[in-house]
Formats: sequence, C-alpha cells, structure tokens
Amino acid sequence: MPKRRASIEILPANLWDLNAARELERLSFPLDAWPLIEMIGVLSLPSIERWKAVLEDKLVGFIAVDIRRRQQVAWIATIAVHPDYRGLGIGGRLMQTAEQRAGMPCMRLSVRASNKSAQSLYQGRGYEQIDVWPKYYSGDEDAIVMEKKLK
Ligand SMILES: CC(C)(COP(=O)(O)OP(=O)(O)OC[C@H]1O[C@@H](n2cnc3c(N)ncnc32)[C@H](O)[C@@H]1OP(=O)(O)O)[C@@H](O)C(=O)NCCC(=O)NCCS
Repeated sequence: MPKRRASIEILPANLWDLNAARELERLSFPLDAWPLIEMIGVLSLPSIERWKAVLEDKLVGFIAVDIRRRQQVAWIATIAVHPDYRGLGIGGRLMQTAEQRAGMPCMRLSVRASNKSAQSLYQGRGYEQIDVWPKYYSGDEDAIVMEKKLK
C-alpha cells in the first residue's frame, strides 16, 4: 500500500472525474451515496467548488463545497477519502484547500451523529457544533451541524 503523503496532489475536479468520484462515494457512503444526477450536479454546477486528491493518477479523495454567497457561508456537501488511503492526512488537506479557496468567512457541514471519525477530523480543524437536525439522515439518524469561522 503506498503511503507517500508527499506525492499526493490536490487538484480541481470536474465532470471527467465522474466515474472515480461515484466509486469513491459508493465505497464511502454505503447508506447515503448520491444518485448519478446529483453527482453530475456536484461536478458541474457553478455554485459548487470541488477538489480531488490524486495519487499516481488515481482519485483517492474528493471534497465538494456549496458556496452560498448571499449568506456568506460555504457548506461542505461531501468529503471522502478512499478506504485504503485514510489516516494519511488527505481528508485534512482537502478541508484545508476548501477553507482557503471557498473565499467565505464561514464554513458549515452536517455529519451523521454516529460518524465519530469525521467529527474528530472536523473538531481537530476547529469546527464546533451549532445545531442538531433530528432524524435528518436515512435510518432516522440525527445530523450534527458544525461551523468554523475563518475571518
Ligand atoms: C472522514 C474522512 C474523510 C477522513 O479522511 P482521512 O484522510 O482519513 O483524514 P485525515 O487522515 O486527514 O485525519 C485527520 C484527523 O481526522 C481524525 N480521524 C480520521 N480518521 C479517524 C478515525 N478512524 N478515528 C478517529 N479519528 C479519525 C483524526 O483527528 C485525524 O487527525 P490525526 O491524524 O492528527 O489523528 C474519511 O474517514 C472518510 O472518507 N470517511 C468516509 C466518508 C465520511 O464519513 N465522510 C464525512 C461525511 S460528513
């Protein structure tokens, strides 16, 4: 298993990444993987920014951010790292890129209450819980809403 953190590049993603991004979603979100049409939207809508982590021409991570200029908030719509490449700092690098490039003073996201590894990532990067959306996810699981102020 390659563990060469330094050779991972963070690059803009686009519709050419559809198949790889869908496969990553499928692997990462067994309960919530987006349907094809939503993934096409995430990779093409002008209000969404997206980046991929690439190692040796393989997409190993993906983040998409919904920029809501009127509210001056960027919502992280999805973040995922391929299971074989987790724990290498790729998720952190994707978040850092999104925070720097979204250009908004406030970042927000929602996460399943049971997803403690993602919550650790967010807390470690300075995100704080601001709300709970009861039964938001399939299986009636609550969403924890988190926020980070950047400016
Ligand atoms: C959440 C996810 C994106 C993290 O990606 P990653 O590349 O493994 O994360 P990193 O290596 O950058 O880890 C950064 C921090 O996250 C936390 N973290 C990551 N994996 C963790 C785990 N399994 N258990 C506990 N904390 C974890 C740690 O605080 C870690 O910091 P450290 O390395 O200093 O200990 C990845 O686990 C994933 O794709 N999960 C499935 C999809 C998902 O749940 N996405 C979030 C939906 S809201």
